[in-house]
Amino acid sequence: MSPATAVAAAPVAPSRRLLSSLPTTTANTIKINNQLTPLSKAYSRSLFSSSSTLRMAHMVEGCPPLRLLLIGSPGAGKGTQSGRIQNNFEVSTISSGDLLRKNIAQGTEIGKRAAKEMKNGAFVSDEVMVKLIDSELGKLGAEQGWLLDGFPRTMTQAQTLDHTLESLNQPLNLVIHLNVPEEVILQRIMDRWVHIPSGRVYNMTYNPPKRAGVDDVTGEPLERRPDDNPETFKIRLQKHHELTEPLLDYYKNKNILVSLAGNTSDEIYPQIRDLLQTRFKPEDSSSEIEGQGQA
Ligand code: AP5
Ligand code: MG
Repeated sequence: MSPATAVAAAPVAPSRRLLSSLPTTTANTIKINNQLTPLSKAYSRSLFSSSSTLRMAHMVEGCPPLRLLLIGSPGAGKGTQSGRIQNNFEVSTISSGDLLRKNIAQGTEIGKRAAKEMKNGAFVSDEVMVKLIDSELGKLGAEQGWLLDGFPRTMTQAQTLDHTLESLNQPLNLVIHLNVPEEVILQRIMDRWVHIPSGRVYNMTYNPPKRAGVDDVTGEPLERRPDDNPETFKIRLQKHHELTEPLLDYYKNKNILVSLAGNTSDEIYPQIRDLLQTRFKPEDSSSEIEGQGQA
């Protein structure tokens, strides 16, 4: 049973108004039916009993901010799911691939060093990647929820990240593995167009831009990624199997791994949403925003 299902099935489902009127006994618990209940659980029960309508979400009081890592093979939909999560939950997204592409576009030293590896489907060095991501994490406040797409993808990167997060007292609290069959992925990649400055990703059949060849938001031209061809894709896939898949066991042993399977992002996103809602409370506002993904 998934955590979301477990919470939904809980017998006690007080309203959110009732919850907020009850005295909290300690910083993070509340008394319901004479039982001490963690605030996070109480709000989650309230969430699932009140309505199935999707709403904009904000952090559950008493829960740590979401610190989420998305792992998946090239083209599994990490960028697409990041975009949806970012549009519906309060998280900042850090995408290692987007950051590198921005550096290449701006002609920075990092960009110059990374361009060749990326074009060939090889990994950029751990040293460069750790520096790049550490600097992005350093820009976020301790209470800010965040999502990492594409980092870490080697054991060295994972261990270094743990070390950094330990020193910031902000441990990862969830790793989602996007488990998509390889046979559906190559065609997606061949149909992909991206808006490099924002990372927004399009697909000519799945989510085409409103006007052919230009970004929906800025009207700027879309580009093909130089690594989106069958030869390079094969190498990227190989690197993923060899260097990134061992991380699944690493996070499984830490009890923070959830693997979600599906042929399309439309099958997987509802599963992600249900999982994340156990850590968020809804606000009385609009329905879910589909939004654009990020490459
Ligand atoms: P990166 O940019 O991270 O590429 P990747 O991991 O290969 O993943 P992709 O961005 O290709 O796919 P995605 O999972 O985001 O899928 P998307 O949502 O776009 O990294 C690029 C390179 O940078 C690496 O090869 C490496 O060189 C370097 N690098 C990055 N991080 C590094 C690190 N930590 N260490 C070392 N080197 C690093 O979806 C794919 C397509 O499918 C899109 O067209 C999308 O529209 C479409 N799509 C999505 N959902 C659906 C659906 N339901 N149905 C049909 N199509 C769909
Ligand atoms: Mg991507």
